[in-house]
Amino acid sequence: MNEVNSDNWKELNYNVDSLWIINERDKSGKHSNFYHGNFIPQIPNQLIRRYTAPGDLVMELFAGSGTTLFECESLGRPYIGYDINAEVIDYVNNTMAATRWMWYSMLNCDVTDSEDFHNKTRQGLSQLNKANADFLIAHPPYLDIVKFSDDPRDLSNISDLDLFLSKLKEAFTNGLSYLKKGGYFAVVMGDIYKNSEVVPLAFYTMDLIKRNFNVKLKGIVVKNIEGNRGKLGALNIWKYRAMKSDYFLFKHEYIFVFKKMF
Ligand SMILES: C[S@@+](CC[C@H](N)C(=O)[O-])C[C@H]1O[C@@H](n2cnc3c(N)ncnc32)[C@H](O)[C@@H]1O
Repeated sequence: MNEVNSDNWKELNYNVDSLWIINERDKSGKHSNFYHGNFIPQIPNQLIRRYTAPGDLVMELFAGSGTTLFECESLGRPYIGYDINAEVIDYVNNTMAATRWMWYSMLNCDVTDSEDFHNKTRQGLSQLNKANADFLIAHPPYLDIVKFSDDPRDLSNISDLDLFLSKLKEAFTNGLSYLKKGGYFAVVMGDIYKNSEVVPLAFYTMDLIKRNFNVKLKGIVVKNIEGNRGKLGALNIWKYRAMKSDYFLFKHEYIFVFKKMF
């Protein structure tokens, strides 16, 4: 972690509130927002600045379109990311080619497959001359609510909650085995509706981590899901449908922060 002292605390300016209202997506630099289901760059930006120092290694399960990687490049943190979707990895590598920043490894890998994960991680670590990760972040699919690919190993193709959670546990076991003791682990997750009721997927995920790993829960941050003026018409249709029926519109997701104690 960066050391905070009376001289630098204002400049570091971490958001230490448990409620994050961020209304504008950062679209600067390489961030393009083309990938449906990506998170906003301000999430990894805050977490990386708070939980790592320059030169520390950031590891990301379910890396997607490179949002965290692009922040790592700007902030000078080496990076290893994993995704099952080869197309999105090609996109990220092509985008990265523009600046020729070499301190990263984007791995095409099923993060629930221990053998594949360990083989590729060993390669990635040696390429970056690192022994372990200083910070771990994961933004998994929210069950099958947004489908990312047709690959049956893609967690977004699982509709059964228990199977999904067991796969998440495998992924977290793999990722946490490379996080240094005392390092921080952040998970971004949302709740969903299924069969006419709320499935508190985020809380199930938090509970899964607390029950299965020796970690301390350091934060539950509620983050707004940002509005998008272009989608105002669609939002009105959703509002109308919600008012006609008995449900609420999701306007938030969660960021859970854990500290690894083993
Ligand atoms: C919610 S998205 C992550 C988006 C990312 N935060 C971004 O900003 O682009 C989840 C990602 O998990 C990937 N994924 C799903 N199942 C996976 C698996 N078994 N192993 C590795 N990646 C997987 C999907 O391909 C998708 O890119």
